[in-house]
Amino acid sequence: MYGIPTDGATVKALDKQHVFHSWSAQALIDPLPIASAEGSYFTDYDGKRYLDFSSQLVNVNIGYQHPKLVAAIQEQAARLCTIQPSFANDARSEAARLIAEIAPGDLNRVFFTNGGAEATENALRMARLHTGRFKVFAAHRSYHGATAGAIAMTGEPRRWASEPGLPGVVRYFGPYLYRSAFYASTPEEESERALAHLRDLITFEGPKTVAAIILETVVGTNGILVPPPGYLAGVRALCDEFGIVMIADEVMAGFGRCGEWFAVDHWDVTPDLITFAKGVNSGYVPLGGVIINDAINETFQQRVYPGGLTYSGHPLGCAAAVASINIFREEGIVEHARALGSDVFGPALAKLAENHPSVGEVRGLGAFWAVELVRDRATREPLVPFNATGPDAAPMGEFAAACKQRGLWPMIAGNRTHVVPPCTVSADEVAEGIAVLDEALDVADKYYTG
Ligand SMILES: Cc1ncc(COP(=O)(O)O)c(C=O)c1O
Repeated sequence: MYGIPTDGATVKALDKQHVFHSWSAQALIDPLPIASAEGSYFTDYDGKRYLDFSSQLVNVNIGYQHPKLVAAIQEQAARLCTIQPSFANDARSEAARLIAEIAPGDLNRVFFTNGGAEATENALRMARLHTGRFKVFAAHRSYHGATAGAIAMTGEPRRWASEPGLPGVVRYFGPYLYRSAFYASTPEEESERALAHLRDLITFEGPKTVAAIILETVVGTNGILVPPPGYLAGVRALCDEFGIVMIADEVMAGFGRCGEWFAVDHWDVTPDLITFAKGVNSGYVPLGGVIINDAINETFQQRVYPGGLTYSGHPLGCAAAVASINIFREEGIVEHARALGSDVFGPALAKLAENHPSVGEVRGLGAFWAVELVRDRATREPLVPFNATGPDAAPMGEFAAACKQRGLWPMIAGNRTHVVPPCTVSADEVAEGIAVLDEALDVADKYYTG
């Protein structure tokens, strides 16, 4: 390799000098240099191995360095590294065909992007032009990306610094029974009341002004919130009634994460647009996109679609998507993730809740789970306050440190640890990780006051 540093200290020093990191005060962070990775593990320069219960940013669904996926990228690189979007390209055509094949209903076309934010950004643009309306309904508990439109749709605190953003975003509460905005006490009540709330908002905003409702099919970073029965079908019905485009943001929940190709498959609901990224090729090469139904595709048959990207449908990203989808099929990875959810994570995390008073709730499906930590089970006071930083966030920091010390890389989000390893993780690896969580949760229990 030409001039690539081979020791952790140099990597770290250069990072400190020259790299500007996401979502960070640059002087206050201490990025761990990573030397290598394989399967469900990555290794630092001191040779310490971590079992990855985060899949990086919930994107390495296929695990690290899958040999067939690496080979497919190498082959494509040798054949054709790049070609701009207005040409037709075999890797792009085949990736689009495969994605249309696994997508539900008449979602038959793919607009490729470099990642998730550009996907939600373009889905919004399509919905607005298709309907001739401009408002978009987006959930408080959501993340849709960090570009202008995507961050404006995002509900959570990462949006605040980018305000005032795009006009026309209307915020709604989605279902979350454990902390119900609707004083509901059953999943059925939560579903009904969340839908009634959405209907009221549509009525008061003016149905003819609403272009789209965007939702994360299973809310990811903001809690792994699995929708209660009837909710998605109810949103679909509202969209049909009022001519609103339903956008399912499956950037995190799609491509096997929920034990289905797309999370919507779980509830047999067909949105008008699906946004994807991450698991489409596990981020081996950046790729995302929007899957478009026939009606919206029809809008742009004679009319120009006013959007594009130099790297839309990049051959390396698309070749990686083709290989990844084929590997998922050959190795039954979607089915594996589904079985992990019902047979491994479900029971193991329920046991953690039995062992530790600080576990308020465990929830999830497939390889997509949250352990929500509280100071008091009766009041459900979160272990750390909403959007805590610095000393307020210390209990979660201590919990994370306890995991890392024992060789487990957790995904911390607010007062929760999300359990989101690669979808290829084995039952033995899960057991290894759960054993670490079991020990580390003693740290959280120390703060329990209930
Ligand atoms: C649901 C969802 N949508 C969009 C995004 C943005 O994706 P990207 O970071 O690739 O722009 C994310 C990223 O975490 C996400 O989880």
